[in-house]
Amino acid sequence: MMKKILVAGGAGYIGSHICVELLNEGYETVSVDNLYNSSDVSMKRVEEITGKKLKFYRADFLMEDVITDIFEKERPDAVIMCAGYKAVGESVVKPLEYYYNNLTSLMLLCDVMRKTGCKNIIFSSSATVYGDPAEIPITEDCPKGEITNPYGRTKSMIEQILTDIHAADRDFGVILLRYFNPIGAHPSGLIGEDPEGIPNNLVPYIAQVAIGKREAIHVFGNDYDTPDGTGVRDYIHVVDLAKGHVSALRKMEKDGGLNIYNLGTGKGYSVLEVIDAYEKACGKKLKRIIDPRRPGDIACCYCDPAKAKRELNWEARYGIEEMCRDSYNWQMKNPDGYGAFEHAKICFS
Ligand code: UFG
Repeated sequence: MMKKILVAGGAGYIGSHICVELLNEGYETVSVDNLYNSSDVSMKRVEEITGKKLKFYRADFLMEDVITDIFEKERPDAVIMCAGYKAVGESVVKPLEYYYNNLTSLMLLCDVMRKTGCKNIIFSSSATVYGDPAEIPITEDCPKGEITNPYGRTKSMIEQILTDIHAADRDFGVILLRYFNPIGAHPSGLIGEDPEGIPNNLVPYIAQVAIGKREAIHVFGNDYDTPDGTGVRDYIHVVDLAKGHVSALRKMEKDGGLNIYNLGTGKGYSVLEVIDAYEKACGKKLKRIIDPRRPGDIACCYCDPAKAKRELNWEARYGIEEMCRDSYNWQMKNPDGYGAFEHAKICFS
């Protein structure tokens, strides 16, 4: 039985929601985060939501000695790896930083894991590995496609590295979870997404327009080959996504191996449909401006979630209404996110 789980990147948007679900399910939870793009306020909030204690270390996965010490002290049964740089646009400008940070920290983590005898890892991958998907809905058998940015390539490369590590050591259990578009927040409104500066992603941007922080939503293109011309994505409530990790852990407890799962709802919504749903959730009309397409974007991306249902006994329960409701609730209660916190600069040391 697995008892103790280490969440790498546990203070971030997805990591903090994973910590809540792990604690709710009775797992001892150790969160490790360098707070490069997150706040430790989220860690306090996780304890407030769950009424349980969480262990938190501020540490960087590039610092192998420090990470080794943590593993020797904590002896986790499994790692959920969601630490990494994640901004698509930034990765185009700073490719070396992205490859260096995301790949090196993953490799050092795996080295520490094997040295300390921890042989189970769940990795936060992304639907981005499918590129412009060869088939819709996307099953896990869909071939990986051409990816348009370094961020996405780090996800794909890490999938390959973990696959090769597993091939060399069959006892090293690996689950690759390919996230579709996580949005929303914990229904308590205590934890949620806190982007720095201008949000890159659709729903955090809409949320800031809804509370009057920004004037209008920019719709990136309305000439795609989709029913209303705007991009279609598989949005998934972050709480559902987090629960998917607990289901993956249970699978890992039963049988090791290498497994890949899509985590999405299987339903696609266009940009305009998401804005309409958000307007209902916040009870206001939101101004929208049609802009040109964003480079690198694809028309349509949604998954077939049947494999996760079949093998993990997991499926998304929340719909777009709850996603928008909980996003708005979080944004209203935390108009400035977790407040000013130090954003470390990307650097090598
Ligand atoms: N969009 C807008 N306006 C915005 C932001 C986005 O119209 O201000 C549109 C995009 O063109 C796209 C849709 O809204 O059609 C969703 O865009 P997001 O930026 O929210 O999400 P993406 O699907 O582009 O990217 C997300 C994650 C990536 C991940 C990818 C995998 O942000 O990390 O899904 O599919 F790689």
